[in-house]
Amino acid sequence: MSTLPLLELDRASRSFRLAALFARARAVDALRDVSFRLEAGKALALVGESGSGKTTCARAIAGMIDLTAGQIRFRGENIAEHRSRKAQRDYAHAVQMVFQDPFSALNPTHTVRHHLARPLKLHRQALNDLDEAIRQALAAVELDPETTTGKYPHELSGGELQRVNLARALAVGAELVIADEPTSMLDVSIRRSVIDLIRRLKAERGVAFLIITHDIATASHLADDIAIMFAGQIVEQGPAEEVICAPQHPYTKLLLAALPGSGRSRDKERDSGEDFSAHAEAIRAATRESPAPLTEWRPGHLVRRVGRDTI
Ligand SMILES: Nc1ncnc2c1ncn2[C@@H]1O[C@H](COP(=O)(O)OP(=O)(O)O)[C@@H](O)[C@H]1O
Ligand SMILES: [Mg+2]
Repeated sequence: MSTLPLLELDRASRSFRLAALFARARAVDALRDVSFRLEAGKALALVGESGSGKTTCARAIAGMIDLTAGQIRFRGENIAEHRSRKAQRDYAHAVQMVFQDPFSALNPTHTVRHHLARPLKLHRQALNDLDEAIRQALAAVELDPETTTGKYPHELSGGELQRVNLARALAVGAELVIADEPTSMLDVSIRRSVIDLIRRLKAERGVAFLIITHDIATASHLADDIAIMFAGQIVEQGPAEEVICAPQHPYTKLLLAALPGSGRSRDKERDSGEDFSAHAEAIRAATRESPAPLTEWRPGHLVRRVGRDTI
């Protein structure tokens, strides 16, 4: 049996050159030395504030942008070396993205049936009963085939649309689903049921999920492992329970303290927005002053130590 992980990032880095309005062109290090492994049937959450590099990481894994350094390996193969059409097509099928806005990926003029029929026909050449395959694809995401097949996107709720998006990803044979804020636009009541569905898909079908979110609470419900991103780097990573119950990096502690019901008084919550930004800025400054390597705190739980204890 192979011991290769499904997905492995090895010091993945990406910088963007900004257009030079003035004499010197500046570059943004959107992703710096990001390394992690993700196994089939597991979920890893990338958690971080806006601008921390989460989407850049997702786009690099999906092959939409190249790295400037480091490697992304899928089943041990460097994806930058996929040269043949077939290798690229197989990878494009194996890695699917699901986006925050559940409407965005669907065509408003086509029915659910149409959205599933195309990928099913593309992926399963020897398919002889398309209607049965569509029924199965909908049942797999807990939608009622009888009432859903003929509907248009505007006739479905946000939660139902996100289920259709997941069904499409599975229909093309996804082994890895990259979900960028998959539940942040859903009502709280629906959010939980989509989270439960994702948990079931990974456990029962062995699909791996890379969950991208700014919300550490969603991450804790969905993920086996959590990686905290801050300014393009992973500052802490480990098993979800460990990171939540024994956070080591000041930014992880800050994210947890900002959760509702984390024990702060109402007065404190009133100022929380400003507090959060000021605190995050202090951590950013300390990180810039003394960059630290990611080191193992406990087996499997890594952290970048920040110089000053005061933050
Ligand atoms: N195409 C691009 N050109 C220039 N800068 C970019 C581009 N894409 C992302 N960035 C920059 O890289 C950093 C990380 O962005 P992003 O990956 O979108 O973060 P997140 O998804 O965590 O909000 C930001 O500073 C952003 O402005
Ligand atoms: Mg983003």
